[in-house]
Amino acid sequence: MTDTTAYVQWFRQSSPYINAHRGKTFVIMFDGDALVHPNFDTLVQDMALLNSLGVRLVLVHGARPQIDAVLERLDITSQFHNDLRITDGEALRAVKAAVGMVKADIESRLSVGVPGSPMHGARIRVVSGNFVTAKPLGVINGVDYQHTGEVRRIEHQAIKSLLDQQNVVLLSCAGYSPSGEMFNLSVEDVAQHAAVSLRADKLIAFSDQDGLQNSDGEQVHELTCRQLEDMVHSLKGSIRWQADMAMRCVRQGVPRVHLLSYEIDGALLQELFTREGEGTLISQEAYDQLRAANIDDVAGILELLKPLEEQGILVRRSRELLETEIHRFFVIERDGLITACAALYPYTDDDAELACVAVHSDYRGSSRGERLLEQIEQEARKRNYKQLFVLTTRTAHWFVEHGFVAGSVTSLPQEKQKLYNMQRNSKVFFKGL
Ligand SMILES: CC(C)(COP(=O)(O)OP(=O)(O)OC[C@H]1O[C@@H](n2cnc3c(N)ncnc32)[C@H](O)[C@@H]1OP(=O)(O)O)[C@@H](O)C(=O)NCCC(=O)NCCS
Repeated sequence: MTDTTAYVQWFRQSSPYINAHRGKTFVIMFDGDALVHPNFDTLVQDMALLNSLGVRLVLVHGARPQIDAVLERLDITSQFHNDLRITDGEALRAVKAAVGMVKADIESRLSVGVPGSPMHGARIRVVSGNFVTAKPLGVINGVDYQHTGEVRRIEHQAIKSLLDQQNVVLLSCAGYSPSGEMFNLSVEDVAQHAAVSLRADKLIAFSDQDGLQNSDGEQVHELTCRQLEDMVHSLKGSIRWQADMAMRCVRQGVPRVHLLSYEIDGALLQELFTREGEGTLISQEAYDQLRAANIDDVAGILELLKPLEEQGILVRRSRELLETEIHRFFVIERDGLITACAALYPYTDDDAELACVAVHSDYRGSSRGERLLEQIEQEARKRNYKQLFVLTTRTAHWFVEHGFVAGSVTSLPQEKQKLYNMQRNSKVFFKGL
């Protein structure tokens, strides 16, 4: 395969992901170490690309190493307790200087637009401000953390209206109290509160670790919050903070948290636009969600059916028809992508049609078809139908293996017989409920 063919193929394959991510809110968090890594420029370009594709972006940055550098320059030694900096008056000056510098640095990198650069024409507007209200951490076990604080509130309405206007919002690891004091915050705390209060679709956290590893040192690509609870105690350092943050986010309603490494060039795009992903995805429940379809699923279902319609396996359905019949569909969704669907069409008091059974070619052979069939059967029983029928040209054996029995066209409900397409010559199968 030539490079061009591979490129065209990759681009086509990414289109369902592009559609799935458009209009979604992602909070992207990176600590201060990421900023000084050689990959940070390409990470900025990838974030700019997401912005161009209609993703609503909130960036949250840390500044720990930059604060350390300013303190060192000022010859000030910072005190830590339980891995948390005690921010006294002098350290606060260093925090102000470092956070200001980092913020300006990110803003300028997001402003690059010279011809020939990947960000040419992107024209990103970055907005930052006093969106994070903080309170002091206070005295814990006799230790006064002074200007080290925690998030009290995020001005989510203000952020949302900025996102509505296609701005990228930049939040720092610093917040202000109503009394006008500034507090040094952990980047995880800000990112978590931002993702929860904005009802973000994803929180993507970058660190120097490539997601989570199991006890054999193998990377774990996806796990539920429950599974993470079992392994979190064995984690140490920054990955532990991120894992704790991921669990809090997911428990508070953020559907997905991705842990990625800034040391891997292109990790963000790989995670969001390829099936395999790159880092570790932590989600609420089982990763696949089987549910009744709604009007927002129409585009995803059309995308799923298109190749099968082109091959003549399924009968073509227009967008308009699908919109009016969407309430008959069930879908399986994975990370915003419709991977499978099936529909139930009533005909008589006793008979209903199982139609439009389709599983995305990348996701076949994992019982999605079977799960949908079970769901449709359950639904049909609930509505007191006595039997299901299905018309198929190429999938006869699959239905037989799932309890369907061959029948004749004349056994179909009258209404369906009138619609039967002789040219298509589909086979007819029945299953008693
Ligand atoms: C048929 C289909 C829905 C099955 O989905 P799935 O999630 O892969 O199904 P499951 O995992 O439950 O079952 C997989 C098994 O079905 C078999 N299978 C898949 N397509 C088949 C077909 N056309 N004929 C016979 N068996 C088939 C697979 O070989 C596999 O069997 P194995 O486990 O022995 O290897 C999916 O292949 C599909 O979308 N096909 C194209 C659309 C279609 O034909 N729809 C029905 C038209 S009404």
